[in-house]
Amino acid sequence: EQTRIKRIASSIRVIPNFPKPGVMFQDITTLLLDPKAFRDTVELFVERYRDMRISVVAGVEARGFIFGPPIALSIGAKFVPLRKPKKLPGEVISEEYSLEYGTDTMEMHVGAVQFNDRVLVIDDLIATGGTLCAAIKLIERAGAEVIECACVIELPELKGRERLGDRPLFVLVEG
Ligand code: PRP
Ligand code: HPA
Repeated sequence: EQTRIKRIASSIRVIPNFPKPGVMFQDITTLLLDPKAFRDTVELFVERYRDMRISVVAGVEARGFIFGPPIALSIGAKFVPLRKPKKLPGEVISEEYSLEYGTDTMEMHVGAVQFNDRVLVIDDLIATGGTLCAAIKLIERAGAEVIECACVIELPELKGRERLGDRPLFVLVEG
């Protein structure tokens, strides 16, 4: 177990001062270059969620689109993309959320999530928690239940976990 977590942690590259001075950017593209680490990442999530009756895996653009689909396929769940504004062609519901500077919007197709769905929300990383908060709001507005949020990396100093209320957060490594 620790060997898998260690491989994953050491495959993530940290780039100082990206995208701006002072930020230590956790770069998962190097994890994707290590097929064992990528497979271990997906398998750890699949082992956790295969028996939790998850019906939908909702992935947050952009990096939730990398980890979400292999998990969804393995556990036999649907995959629903949560997207930046004006990308989804059908009718959408939207949630605005705050970034460090300014705001952004997340959108989900109406009808993609049903009231009786049991949803896992997946992203690569939780920082302030604003992004996952918006994802939770979209899913709960559709009447569905967020069973858990899952990320590869948590930045615990930013206390994003506290913004998720009582929805559980599962992470593999801390940055
Ligand atoms: C990053 C990351 C998460 C989010 C976390 O995405 O992939 O989605 O920030 O930050 P938060 O917890 O403070 O909300 P980003 O907004 O950079 O968008 P991108 O994936 O499209 O590059
Ligand atoms: N990596 C990726 N996304 C992020 C980070 C990071 O370190 N910080 C905030 N969003």
